[in-house]
Amino acid sequence: MDKLPIDLFNEFSQQREGEILYQLLYRCLQQGILKGLLKGGERLPSSRELAAQLKVSRNTVRMAYDQLIAEGYVESHQGAGSFITSLPEKLIHPPVDSSRDEALPPELSELAQRYMASSSLYASGCMLLQPAVQPMDHFPRKRWRRCLSAAADVDAMFGQPPAGLRLLREQIAGHLSTFRGIQVSAEQILITSGSQQASFMLASMLCNPGDRVLLETPGYPGTEAVLAAAGACVKHINWQVLQDAQALNACLTGSDARALFITPSRNFPLGHTLPLEARLRILHWAAQNNRWIVEDDYDSEFAEGHPVSALFALDQGKRVIYTGTFSRTMFPALRLGYMVLPEALVPAFLKARRLMDGGLSAVAQAAMGHFMSQGDYSRHIRKMRQLYQERRSILEKLLADSALSHLPVTDAGGGMHLVLALPDSVDDKALVHDLMAEGIGIRALSHYASGNTSLKGLVIGFALNNADEMQQGIDRVEAHYLKLTAKTSG
Ligand SMILES: Cc1ncc(COP(=O)(O)O)c(C=O)c1O
Repeated sequence: MDKLPIDLFNEFSQQREGEILYQLLYRCLQQGILKGLLKGGERLPSSRELAAQLKVSRNTVRMAYDQLIAEGYVESHQGAGSFITSLPEKLIHPPVDSSRDEALPPELSELAQRYMASSSLYASGCMLLQPAVQPMDHFPRKRWRRCLSAAADVDAMFGQPPAGLRLLREQIAGHLSTFRGIQVSAEQILITSGSQQASFMLASMLCNPGDRVLLETPGYPGTEAVLAAAGACVKHINWQVLQDAQALNACLTGSDARALFITPSRNFPLGHTLPLEARLRILHWAAQNNRWIVEDDYDSEFAEGHPVSALFALDQGKRVIYTGTFSRTMFPALRLGYMVLPEALVPAFLKARRLMDGGLSAVAQAAMGHFMSQGDYSRHIRKMRQLYQERRSILEKLLADSALSHLPVTDAGGGMHLVLALPDSVDDKALVHDLMAEGIGIRALSHYASGNTSLKGLVIGFALNNADEMQQGIDRVEAHYLKLTAKTSG
């Protein structure tokens, strides 16, 4: 063949920016062969002929031919030229299954279908009054930069243990001893990419599809999503039941649940602490029946006053797994957290970790380890505790001075957000929807209250904004609240 059909090179006129010419030529020829436009056994024009036809350099054609030869589309015969490889017809023109409906989702495993069915966690990107977001203008960037730079010299660039960098695990063990009354060795600590990954691993390592699992409500939707993905059959325990010893006893007696996922130190988002009797009761239930308790301790660092000791520290039966995160105390994009395992669970989790991903980036872990070992972490927490307390008081005052003053603040204090209860007649999701349109990141309490429709309220963050910003936000909440209540009563 002296010349190739010009239709083959239609794509030449659509060359994308940055695309290398020989790769484009290669693709045109490859598609021509796969679509059967160039037949097996046919001789390709010489590189000189094709270069002249397409007005490109001979080198471009040679490189495209070399690629086709390397991949087996074309065979080069010494002295005779380059020939298109003969391939079985049915592989070149695979029969198209006309019954296949392109609109149907691809065939996926049951696990993948459960992922698809889970509700996605929303990050609104609205920066006013958004809960769980830190004021990065108060973050000690210089000190952090120094730790990142020290991490570049980390010795352990090879052979990192799947549990995580020893330096960081030792620092976490020390932090847990000082702040949470937990005495553990670094061997029991597994570094994760955050509490969400910890819950995910725990759901799949502790539960089989179809197993019943108890989950407090309201709660963090991400936990329910991973339980659903693991195929667990979730049974909600209402927070009021958890506060009432008799009701809790009735719920646990005879329960075949394999595990209980809970935030005992500060319910998320209500902020309530699980009473002592309830703590002892769930520990007793787990020990007597060989069940597991997953303790999500997401923000005790910002508890009002001294935080209650962790359930893990109370547990004699070694049935509690503790999960912690740096997302609140540092920043979420760091993607570092940890779990503390009873010794008996360690070998299985290490094996799983090695298989999953071999552990996390040693660089981020080393930086965090240095930040902790130099006292920067505890200093930062102390400063943020103080700042958040001040900001909480400012927000409470703004609410008290507004038309929302009759609405009770129902959470237990401290933290990075407060909960403002709304009357049953107000649709909190509708209110939040309107606020988001104005860049206000307040969340609806009912969003967290799966299985409990009676909870209505606003989860209002105060950590991120200064007094002026909070004033702006509350003015908007007030206006929208009054508009919505006028509509409902009118
Ligand atoms: C109660 C609770 N658990 C878990 C998580 C997940 O946190 P991480 O960023 O560590 O995955 C969050 C995030 O806000 C949370 O609020």
